[in-house]
Amino acid sequence: LTVPVLSSRGERFVKAAVLHAFGSPPRYEEFPEPTPGPGEVLLHVRASALTRLAYGIASGGHYAASPSLPCVVGIDGVGTTADGARVYASGPRAPYGMMAERTVVPATRCQAVPDGIDDLRAAALPNAALGPWLALEFRARLAAGESVLVLGATGITGRMAIPIARHLGAARVVAAGRNETILAALAARGADATISLRGPDDTVRAAIAREVGAHPVDVVLDFLWGRPAELTISALLGHGGVDAARPIRFVSAGQMAGATAAIPSAALRSSGLLLVGSGIGSVPFPDVARTYPRIWALASAGGLSVDAVGVPLAEVESAWSAEAPDGRRRVFVP
Ligand SMILES: NC(=O)c1ccc[n+]([C@@H]2O[C@H](COP(=O)([O-])OP(=O)(O)OC[C@H]3O[C@@H](n4cnc5c(N)ncnc54)[C@H](OP(=O)(O)O)[C@@H]3O)[C@@H](O)[C@H]2O)c1
Repeated sequence: LTVPVLSSRGERFVKAAVLHAFGSPPRYEEFPEPTPGPGEVLLHVRASALTRLAYGIASGGHYAASPSLPCVVGIDGVGTTADGARVYASGPRAPYGMMAERTVVPATRCQAVPDGIDDLRAAALPNAALGPWLALEFRARLAAGESVLVLGATGITGRMAIPIARHLGAARVVAAGRNETILAALAARGADATISLRGPDDTVRAAIAREVGAHPVDVVLDFLWGRPAELTISALLGHGGVDAARPIRFVSAGQMAGATAAIPSAALRSSGLLLVGSGIGSVPFPDVARTYPRIWALASAGGLSVDAVGVPLAEVESAWSAEAPDGRRRVFVP
């Protein structure tokens, strides 16, 4: 554990990634040490992942939170509690954040981490695994034997959708994305088919139409929105709608390709498509909480892995704006 820094007035400070302006990288500097309030836990942080959610909140434009500045960034991570338990936690109390030596979190947001899962994996897994898991189980209500098309399957979260969809009973999983090297690797790692989203609109739409024409899709799990969502929905025109009890469920879980999409009314009317979202605010926390142990169990059994790389928290300012190495999830270590 680190030694507390004391000011001349006896205040205690921690080293932290401190945000002074939305959209700018946080700086590694001292920040007042938090004191836990009722129902809260002081956490000695061991690792916190640089997720799209962490970026989004630090941009000031995420629907889930808009903290006052200055604040410490980082919304989840792994740490040790006063009694020595190693836990995964989310939702630190603003202005404190998880990318710091110490933070405060609600006791109800702490989940024990199994010994076999190291700090980097434990910090990187939950956000990426919850994305597909909650969307497929609670929003799409995926049934055994159904087929899933993943838009944005080449991202860290999208890659996890393949083993998770299988684990939840999908019979066919199709991976769609831009990065053709990763798509080829996904084919080797269990995707039944791949669709390249690189190319002119007509080519992409035709590739999706061919796939859904040959193999009816039950669930579209979308991390992109924008143009890829528009093309997919137009390719679904006329498909589905025969079984009102099992419509095609299109679940919006991310917006890497655009914040908005133009959806023709005819596409909805002709396909019976059910359009829903999945994220903070659309899945109740008890459902999230009971998913964590299942993520740990699947990862412990070797059924779920994440490409994570540790970065010293002291390097947060330069790492924040740089590209992730080899598409791996960066995890800050205080
Ligand atoms: N709702 C939830 O519960 C939940 C949970 C986790 C993540 N998410 C969301 O899911 C999304 C992806 O997160 P991630 O962790 O996978 O991020 P990531 O690892 O950084 O991957 C980003 C992905 O976006 C793709 N992409 C970016 N711009 C694109 C475009 N214009 N067209 C097509 N693909 C594009 C990239 O494709 P290429 O590599 O192929 O170029 C890459 O695969 C984010 O929006 C995130 O907020 C949601």
